[in-house]
Amino acid sequence: MQETSPGSSPTTPGFVRLRGIVKSYLEEDGTRTPILENVTADFPRSTVSAIVGRSGSGKTTLLNLMAGLDQPDQGVVEIDRFQLTAMNDTATTLFRRRSIGFIFQFFNLLPSLTVLENVLFPLALNQADDAMGQQRAFELLERVGIGKRAHTFPDRLSGGERQRAAIARALVHRPLLLLADEPTGNLDHKTGRDVMALMTHLVRAEQMTLIMVTHSEAFAAQADLLFRLEEGRCLQKPEQH
Ligand SMILES: Nc1ncnc2c1ncn2[C@@H]1O[C@H](COP(=O)(O)OP(=O)(O)OP(=O)(O)O)[C@@H](O)[C@H]1O
Ligand SMILES: [Mg+2]
Repeated sequence: MQETSPGSSPTTPGFVRLRGIVKSYLEEDGTRTPILENVTADFPRSTVSAIVGRSGSGKTTLLNLMAGLDQPDQGVVEIDRFQLTAMNDTATTLFRRRSIGFIFQFFNLLPSLTVLENVLFPLALNQADDAMGQQRAFELLERVGIGKRAHTFPDRLSGGERQRAAIARALVHRPLLLLADEPTGNLDHKTGRDVMALMTHLVRAEQMTLIMVTHSEAFAAQADLLFRLEEGRCLQKPEQH
């Protein structure tokens, strides 16, 4: 809450602000392995940012901290001037339900629900799966190209179709912030390219803020901003834009 002035314009830096994030994991022998040592970064509103870094550098760990799914040892996570790291569990859960969409590498669709029910799920959590919500869910499924598959169960979809469903689910409640953890990591190159184009198109059309982890230099190069996680720190690559 503190430092950002009220009335941020769409171009104000630091829609997502990370300050001095430290995160370690406790090993079985009682020692701590540091993963993130001092991550400070600003992700501006309505931009697409890519985070790259070698396997094990802490990319998923960092996204989980931004989603409030995990807590840092030290440091501040602030989203749209709300300090996530100062909220209790209930407030964090409510904030996440309303304001954050998450796309996983392995889709994480619920197998016992149809595609449409999966997409409606975030709305149900917000008690917003009413007629308008259903219309939004149908429209999104049309826009991601799987409208005809609405009543199918996820195990009957291809990988690309599952990720399209997961994108619709992540966007259905109009989150301020979309976090994507290697959303194309489990897709072939062409399908990955299509899914990436679709995701960035929808995000830009709805003026959302997207932060995605990717191993693909080509996808990273399409982002507005590029960050690299290295030795526990997050370095912004200034040559990007
Ligand atoms: N719950 C946990 N307990 C202990 N160690 C963990 C835990 N989660 C992650 N780690 C370790 O933290 C490090 C960073 O993991 P993380 O999943 O964030 O890496 P990543 O950059 O996303 O890697 P990848 O590109 O392979 O997905 C790894 O060494 C991992 O083994
Ligand atoms: Mg990861």
